[in-house]
Amino acid sequence: MDKYVIGFNGSPRKNWNTAILLEKALAGAASKGVGTELVHLYDLDFKGCASCFACKTKGGKSLGRCARQDGLTPYLEKAFRAEAIFLGSPIYLGTASGGMRSCIERLFFPYLTYTNPSGTLFPRKIPVGLLYAMNTPDGGLDQGTAACGQTLRVVEGMASRIFGRSESLHCFDTWQFDDYSKFEASRFNAAAKARRRQEVFPLDCKKAFAMGARFMAG
Ligand SMILES: Cc1cc2nc3c(=O)[nH]c(=O)nc-3n(C[C@H](O)[C@H](O)[C@H](O)COP(=O)(O)O)c2cc1C
Repeated sequence: MDKYVIGFNGSPRKNWNTAILLEKALAGAASKGVGTELVHLYDLDFKGCASCFACKTKGGKSLGRCARQDGLTPYLEKAFRAEAIFLGSPIYLGTASGGMRSCIERLFFPYLTYTNPSGTLFPRKIPVGLLYAMNTPDGGLDQGTAACGQTLRVVEGMASRIFGRSESLHCFDTWQFDDYSKFEASRFNAAAKARRRQEVFPLDCKKAFAMGARFMAG
């Protein structure tokens, strides 16, 4: 099979910030000659980890693999054979979206060994890109009531331990509505948001493209 990378979109919106960042990361990888696939998690019928422990059962046929069979299963198989994995999510209430959290449980946990220190059953080393879009202002990961820096660092650390290498891209202060005047959202300055969308978001897209290309450069 030809080499490819896979991206998972954890936003229910298919054309907004997270999806665009993922498309750029995949385009960066494609610029190095690999195939790409973008999976919209909210199109799939799936659930998170069932805590069945088939993935940890000694001598079991699902050791190191998720035994749950549903809409995510074929994409977990594709991720198993991919050259890189990109996980994109909006920040919802201080962490990745529910869909992305469920995906991460199914994608990460089967490979993680309950040893001390914990090891991995993933048989190769591949890079994992974590792309997050959020309202949080620039550099504010560790500030405020919905500070998510520590949570995101835990996911990045696990991704590195399981797959060999991971990098995160944080896209701050995103453009959330087409028309801010229609929503109860007085906290936001629509003009400043529009400016940022024009001036900063394209730079985040370039960083996402560069990440994809860098991952495939070895
Ligand atoms: C349910 C929900 C919860 C949110 N919680 C947070 C939050 O805790 N912190 C934050 O910075 N942004 C939060 N946001 C804003 C989104 O992260 C932001 O708009 C992001 O760009 C959405 O991604 P998308 O444009 O790809 O859909 C929230 C949005 C929604 C819908």
